[in-house]
Amino acid sequence: MNLKQQAAQYALQSVQSGMVLGLGTGSTTAYFIDMLGEQIQKGNLKDIVAVPTSEATKKQAQQLGIQLTSLDKHPVLDLAVDGADEVDPHLNLIKGLGRACLREKVVEINAVRFIVIVDESKIVPRLGTRCPLPVEIIRFEAQAHVNWLNTLGCKAEFWVEDNGEIVISDNGNYLVKCYFENGIPDPYELSDRLSKRPGILEHGLFLDMVTQVVVAGANGVYTMEAKNGH
Ligand code: A5P
Repeated sequence: MNLKQQAAQYALQSVQSGMVLGLGTGSTTAYFIDMLGEQIQKGNLKDIVAVPTSEATKKQAQQLGIQLTSLDKHPVLDLAVDGADEVDPHLNLIKGLGRACLREKVVEINAVRFIVIVDESKIVPRLGTRCPLPVEIIRFEAQAHVNWLNTLGCKAEFWVEDNGEIVISDNGNYLVKCYFENGIPDPYELSDRLSKRPGILEHGLFLDMVTQVVVAGANGVYTMEAKNGH
């Protein structure tokens, strides 16, 4: 089993029959969803319903026979499980390099418990040191939003496909990558500024949301627990 699979398998122990789940997006979560589907098919887990965070996750869950629901029908999730691109010592995250940060935040903010599954390469001393911060913007006057993002101490650029076309999210919006040379000095301040700015629809800073991080490394799997019980 690779490290992502090990983290996924560990998180599966937190799933119980009857739960309402939030299902994240990305390669690590895809392993988790496969394992979840297998347990449901074997009859080891029953009466599970799940809210997906992307079209890809929705499709995978449907193929595995995982029953889907919505926040409208199930406004409170017992547990959300998702990967991350970076995890800092306060269990704050950068997410969204799977192109799904908006739907992920919309869903995961409603989870009583939010478990993040990562391999140890995702652990960083400071957010923004390993990868760019993804930001979802409205397509109207898109270049102006990118220009504004460039005033925040980063190098912001449209996220482009290999063929040069700007990446479009599941929601039909543009995505931008913000590169911080020495990391993000104050994620809370940056999150506030991004959240207040018209045209910025969502960003990949997930602050004070995590309950537990499951980390798979060369020496095995360990967990990091949120201190303030969020
Ligand atoms: C999806 O938008 C992301 O938030 C993913 O959870 C994150 O990019 C981690 O992806 P991997 O599990 O593929 O590394």
